[in-house]
Amino acid sequence: MTSTTTQNNLIDLLPTRVSDDNGLAQDVKQGLSQSPKKLSSRFFYDAKGSQLFQQIMELPEYYLTKLEHQILSRQRKEILFAVDTTSPFQLVDLGAGDAYKTKLLLSELMGMKADFSYVPLDISQDQLSLLLEDMHHRWPSLPVKALAAEYFQGLEWLNQHERQRKVVLFLGSNIGNFDLDEAKNFLCTLRQSLHPEDSFLLGLDLRKDPEKIRRAYDDAAGVTSAFNLNLLHRINKELQADFDLDEFQHFAEYDPLEGTMRSFLISRKAQEVTIGALNQTFQFEAWEAIHTENSYKFSLRQVEEMAQDCGFKVQDVFTDPSHGFADVLLRPVH
Ligand SMILES: C[S@@+](CC[C@H](N)C(=O)[O-])C[C@H]1O[C@@H](n2cnc3c(N)ncnc32)[C@H](O)[C@@H]1O
Repeated sequence: MTSTTTQNNLIDLLPTRVSDDNGLAQDVKQGLSQSPKKLSSRFFYDAKGSQLFQQIMELPEYYLTKLEHQILSRQRKEILFAVDTTSPFQLVDLGAGDAYKTKLLLSELMGMKADFSYVPLDISQDQLSLLLEDMHHRWPSLPVKALAAEYFQGLEWLNQHERQRKVVLFLGSNIGNFDLDEAKNFLCTLRQSLHPEDSFLLGLDLRKDPEKIRRAYDDAAGVTSAFNLNLLHRINKELQADFDLDEFQHFAEYDPLEGTMRSFLISRKAQEVTIGALNQTFQFEAWEAIHTENSYKFSLRQVEEMAQDCGFKVQDVFTDPSHGFADVLLRPVH
C-alpha cells in the first residue's frame, strides 16, 4: 500500500481501496443479476451523494443526526471520561463522512489537550478529501491519518501498522445498514481486532413510532429520493450506463415487526439498461424493485445480547431525552 502526503506531513491519505472503483462494478454486476435486484448502499456517497446527505441531515424529518448530535453535545464530557483520555490513543472513526458529530468530541479533546490522533476511515475518497481539508483548517496541530478503505480493510491495516490504544467510533447508526446477521458478524469481527484496553462507541437508532421512522426516509422535499436516485446517476457516470432517472422512482417502507426500514428504486416500466463498463444489458419488468438500503432500528436489549455474544460488555449507554437514539460504549471482555 502506498501513502500520499497531502497539505502537511500530519495528514496521510492511504489508498487502501480494493480496486479503482472500490468494487462498484462488481457490486452492480452481481446485484442486478440476482432476483430481487439489489445495489449496495455503500456506493451512495460519491461527491454528489455526500452533498445530498448533508441536506438530508438538515431536513426536519431526519431526526437521527439531531438526536445523536444532542447526545454527543450534552454528554461528551461523560463519554470521554468513560473511554479514558489520560493515556495516548487513536480515535478511529469508521465511516467518518463529514465527521459532523465527531467534531464535538474532537473539539472537547483538543480543548483538554488530550494526547491522541484522529483516524477517519471511509470508503469515499471524495468525502475524506473534504474532511482532511476541514481538519487542517480547524485544528492544524491535530495529527490526522485518513484511511480510504472498506471498514475491515482499514482496521486490518491499522492493526498491522499501528500499535496504539484505540477508541473506535461507529456513529450515525451506520450499523443499521447491515441486516441483523451482518451486524452481528460486524461486531464479532471488530471485537477480534480490538485489545482489552480499547473501547468502541456505537451509535444506534432505536425503535420508535413507525410513522416517524418512515418519514425520515421519505421526506416531503424529495431530498432522500434524489439521494437514492443518485446511485443510478453514479453508475451512469462511472460505469457508462444508460439508466433513465425519470423512469425510476424512490420508495421507502418500514417493517415494525423486524424493525427494518427499507429503501428501493422502482422501475416505472419494462425497460432495459446497458452498462458499458460491464458490456452487459439488464432487463427490468414494469414496477420491478431494486433494493438499495436497509436501516435497521434496534432495541437496547437486542444490542446488549448481540454485544455479549461477540465478547463485549456494555460499559455505558448514552441516550437522548426521548430515547430515540443511543450511543453505547462497549468494552472487549478478556
Ligand atoms: C451516513 S454516513 C455517516 C457519517 C457519519 N459517521 C455520521 O455519523 O454522520 C455513512 C458514511 O459511511 C461510509 N461507508 C459506507 N459503507 C462503508 C464501508 N463499507 N466501508 C467504509 N465506509 C463506508 C460512507 O461513505 C459515508 O461517508
